[in-house]
Amino acid sequence: MKTWLRDLPKVELHLHIEGSLEPELMFSLAARNGVSLPYATVDEVREAYDFSDLQSFLDLYYQGMRVLCTEQDFYDLAMAYLEQAHAEGVVHVELSFDPQAHLNRGVELAVPFEGLNRARRQAEREWGMTSALIMSFLRDRDAAEAMAVLEKAAPYYETIDAVGLDSAEVGNPPTKFSAVFERAKALGIPRVAHAGEEGPAAYIREALDELDVCRIDHGVACLQDAALVERLRQMQMPLTVCPLSNVRLKVVAEMTDHPLPQMLEQGLKVTLNSDDPAYFGGGVLENYLACAQAFAWDRETFKQLAGNAIDVAFMPDARRAALL
Ligand code: HPA
Ligand code: ZN
Repeated sequence: MKTWLRDLPKVELHLHIEGSLEPELMFSLAARNGVSLPYATVDEVREAYDFSDLQSFLDLYYQGMRVLCTEQDFYDLAMAYLEQAHAEGVVHVELSFDPQAHLNRGVELAVPFEGLNRARRQAEREWGMTSALIMSFLRDRDAAEAMAVLEKAAPYYETIDAVGLDSAEVGNPPTKFSAVFERAKALGIPRVAHAGEEGPAAYIREALDELDVCRIDHGVACLQDAALVERLRQMQMPLTVCPLSNVRLKVVAEMTDHPLPQMLEQGLKVTLNSDDPAYFGGGVLENYLACAQAFAWDRETFKQLAGNAIDVAFMPDARRAALL
């Protein structure tokens, strides 16, 4: 099964590229940029990755990304991940990034855009691997800041496939960003949002009603609300589920408790993704393998999950047709 899952053409829809920063690269970028880290060794970094919830992860995630300073750093970060994903049989990756987390420490918007886009072009040239770019807003900061970033990103709209919404969910409902997402819609930019990871099912409803999103990142909390499940099923709203992330952030106690089997049973449009692979125990293939072990799914189930991601990815129809 392992070889078969590796060879299955897979698409990754939910990846925070800053969350793909492996401790080895963190150290080498820290040295290159003269940034000090509160760890002495790579092992110490890995030992620190023992999270109690989303916030305890976010604290280390924002700390780690301080080593990303130049366009070359973002290029190296993305290239390392895309190469690893390619080796795992991933044929298309949708990278999210958090511009505010860089702007707020003096790293201009052009830096992540130029570095990430250069890596994306190279991956396509070298391996025929396609990608999309999702510019995410930090929901625990104010909406005016997100709006300013959206306007500032005008020179890069051509390279943005969607805007997203991430960071600390509880207490930061989707409605806080209604005006920002309305502006993105007016600009013709598709919208996605994290909802129902730690937050309630009501946030998933809000993301649909107020932000007019075309997919929900995570969405596992939908099972608290039967009418919402029915709505998501009827719409075939894509849900980018990240099982290893949910275990590591204690959204579920262990893999065998994960609601993925119920979600599939209910006819939901589920996909499997890695979220922050350097922090949560691996990339897309590891997430597929963890599901194979926990749920003993057959090949048809995995083909369906991989096919769901191809169906809803931001990619030209000709590329989609070639993959299906
Ligand atoms: N949830 C919310 N925000 C995030 C995450 C996550 O898992 N990873 C990076 N930003
Ligand atoms: Zn996420």
